[in-house]
Amino acid sequence: MPGDAARGPTVFPGWSPGCGSLAAVADSPWIIRRATSEDGTFMADMLVEAVNWSPEWKKKKSRNRVLSTPETAHYIAGWPRDTDLGVIAEANGERIAAAWLRFLPAADPGYGFVASDVPELAIGVAVHWRGRGAGRALLRAIAEQARSAGIRQISLSVERKNFAQKLYASEGYQIVDSSDAGSDTMVKHLAAGRVQF
Ligand SMILES: CC(C)(COP(=O)(O)OP(=O)(O)OC[C@H]1O[C@@H](n2cnc3c(N)ncnc32)[C@H](O)[C@@H]1OP(=O)(O)O)[C@@H](O)C(=O)NCCC(=O)NCCS
Repeated sequence: MPGDAARGPTVFPGWSPGCGSLAAVADSPWIIRRATSEDGTFMADMLVEAVNWSPEWKKKKSRNRVLSTPETAHYIAGWPRDTDLGVIAEANGERIAAAWLRFLPAADPGYGFVASDVPELAIGVAVHWRGRGAGRALLRAIAEQARSAGIRQISLSVERKNFAQKLYASEGYQIVDSSDAGSDTMVKHLAAGRVQF
């Protein structure tokens, strides 16, 4: 797998809500670019958002706790690893959302572990930008980045009460494991093919 994450800020032109192609969209409020080594702190912030996904929860897990608990920290620790892939949404020069993929080994599996050659997705949108299409746009961008890197499947774990499960389903993720009391593992299969940027 190529280490795209460290390569630099290649912009995905015009990736925008409701737009599955690479055509530029003039009124898109953000751009999506590849994540770089400079984005680690922001991505950790988005991981904290993902862990504390429900606005109804009164007791949130602190950033320190998320980043020191192995089960959550391993999604971002040491970013970027050689095989990590990621995308960042930016509006007005500020990061507003991130999605990334990391391969985790069977000995240290993520919540959505399927196999050591299937990377797991993490995604978070800054609170004031939610519900405006950035999440869907990032899901499409990371899938395209993964497909171009030769990845054939992406997995994730999502709590059943999180509306994000419907978003994932609408982007082609299918439930493959419902054995956990509160969450499902979902997998998206990627067609072979390569997009040239
Ligand atoms: C989940 C998340 C990544 C989705 O990104 P987003 O930018 O808010 O979502 P989008 O604006 O792209 O919306 C995607 C779909 O979800 C729907 N949606 C958005 N917010 C919603 C909400 N609060 N409740 C129900 N549906 C909602 C939208 O209507 C849209 O569906 P549509 O295209 O059919 O209209 C983002 O909300 C987030 O970071 N949440 C907190 C962290 C989290 O839950 N991470 C995932 C953990 S598995």
